[in-house]
Amino acid sequence: MAAMTSEALTSGTEYETNRLVYAERVADLRRRRAAASLGGPERARALHKERGQLLPRERIAALLDPGSPFLEFCQLAGEGLYEGVPPGGSIVTGVGIISGRPCMIIANEPTVKGGTYYGITCKKHVRAQRFAWQHRLPCITMVQSGGANLPDQPNIFPDEGQFGSIFFNQVRMSSEGIPQIAVVHGPSTAGGAYIPAVCDETVIIRNQGAMFLGGPQLVYAATREQVGIEALGGGEMHSRVSGVTDHLAENDAHAIAITRDIVANLGEIPPQRWTVAPTREPLFDQNEIYGLVSADPRIPTNNREILARLVDGSEFHEFKPLYGDTLLTGFARIMGFEIGILCNNGVLFSECALKATHFIDLCCKRNIPLLFMTDVTGFMVGREAEEGGITKDGAKMITAMASASVPKYTLITGNAYGAGYLAMCGRAFRPNAMMMWPNARSAIMGPDQAATTLAMVRDEVHKREGTSWADDEREAYMAPTRRTFEEFANAYNFARNTWCDMVIDPLETRGVMALLLDLAGRMPQQHTDFGVLRM
Ligand code: COA
Repeated sequence: MAAMTSEALTSGTEYETNRLVYAERVADLRRRRAAASLGGPERARALHKERGQLLPRERIAALLDPGSPFLEFCQLAGEGLYEGVPPGGSIVTGVGIISGRPCMIIANEPTVKGGTYYGITCKKHVRAQRFAWQHRLPCITMVQSGGANLPDQPNIFPDEGQFGSIFFNQVRMSSEGIPQIAVVHGPSTAGGAYIPAVCDETVIIRNQGAMFLGGPQLVYAATREQVGIEALGGGEMHSRVSGVTDHLAENDAHAIAITRDIVANLGEIPPQRWTVAPTREPLFDQNEIYGLVSADPRIPTNNREILARLVDGSEFHEFKPLYGDTLLTGFARIMGFEIGILCNNGVLFSECALKATHFIDLCCKRNIPLLFMTDVTGFMVGREAEEGGITKDGAKMITAMASASVPKYTLITGNAYGAGYLAMCGRAFRPNAMMMWPNARSAIMGPDQAATTLAMVRDEVHKREGTSWADDEREAYMAPTRRTFEEFANAYNFARNTWCDMVIDPLETRGVMALLLDLAGRMPQQHTDFGVLRM
């Protein structure tokens, strides 16, 4: 396959400015991740350790095979959403290898508000389950949770996608033969107790783990019965008397060893169904991406140069290079895994949408996964575009993308605005995973466009009512919209709300994609039936 060439300047003022701005973005990402990794306040962590327990990340490290990666999902969920609560949403979720088998691990963070579930905790837990379900990964839930965070009731209790969905998903996955395993590491109340209760197999720790529908205080309030934690729901009682739990462990380390044995006895490990070529580094230095991504979002990035620094050997078998060239389509490998790539390099025209439709069809016929590299301000607008049927052609692209049952991944490398975001496999189209680079921005439209649109609507109202407004009033009206749209578009706003799975350093892209593709290669092949492609 022919290697791409590079014409990018990798020195000079513009390159250096971009590089410095990007280095600061990556440092900021690292700071946010470090805050999330720490867990709860010092006092709560010290108390947890005094109780002789491992912190959740220590539990996960002990559970994983030595050297296993841990592909963390929604690490920055909830960042800044709740006062005094660190990023992470009181739970840690991610995929790693246990006894040779990839598993989804979901671990409560007991040092953050007793491991209770906020609305965002539920969303993050459910998202981890959906990924596990799609990839048929056993779920290991490391439970130590006070259940619902009571003041956040509206976001936890009544609706689909909240706490109840966690149980529903567990039951349905179990019914499809996707193993559900729980380790009860500490007191687990109400919802925290049901999670292990609806698992296939459950481990509990003596004098440490406990599970009950209502804790001692609630029992006293309801019935005046005075009973301690151990008698009410301790490991001895549940393993010998109620039979709710299946294995009694002596401490965290013992419980984790039993869990590794359970995973070792889950039967055959699904084999990799794709042929994986040996990994080759790109011809051009990946570090140069920092200097090539435009620091000013209004100046477009040449994404052909970015692509050349992401794919093996910089080899890209381009499809229709001379047609609709603001969307690059073609085949490549990332760390040996074959992938069909759609990569924006400008606005989406009708030709781009037609080319995308054709290319997606090819990938589905050949069973090749799709990577959408998004950097787009939207579809072309205006009379000429409408007369050319851009709505119909955009609909074809959306139909093909939404119908495609091969694994799909979305990587937002720059802008992701409006229908362009959606057509490039936005979150609503259920990509297997969605990643954003720290510079990525996504919204219905740009801040200036949104402010202008709303001001123009207001202009019409003034006209209708025979009133007017001064220029400074108009500007004062537009400023907050601009600010709100600017803040909304930030990648960390997406991460905070679990609208994306992870914010990654561009240099992590190849590794993350390889892990994801390895998991996708172990799930059963799916057949694609396209919806009606309007002609
Ligand atoms: N809702 C909201 N906040 C809760 C909570 C709940 N259900 N349970 C605990 N918290 C908060 C505490 O107020 C405390 O907040 P602070 O850090 O601001 O002081 C923090 O979580 C830690 O609680 P604490 O009791 O000090 O920690 P612990 O490790 O000793 O015990 C629990 C943790 C979960 C065992 C214990 O707090 C508990 O039993 N909570 C009640 C659980 C319950 O009845 N849930 C019913 C859900 S339907």
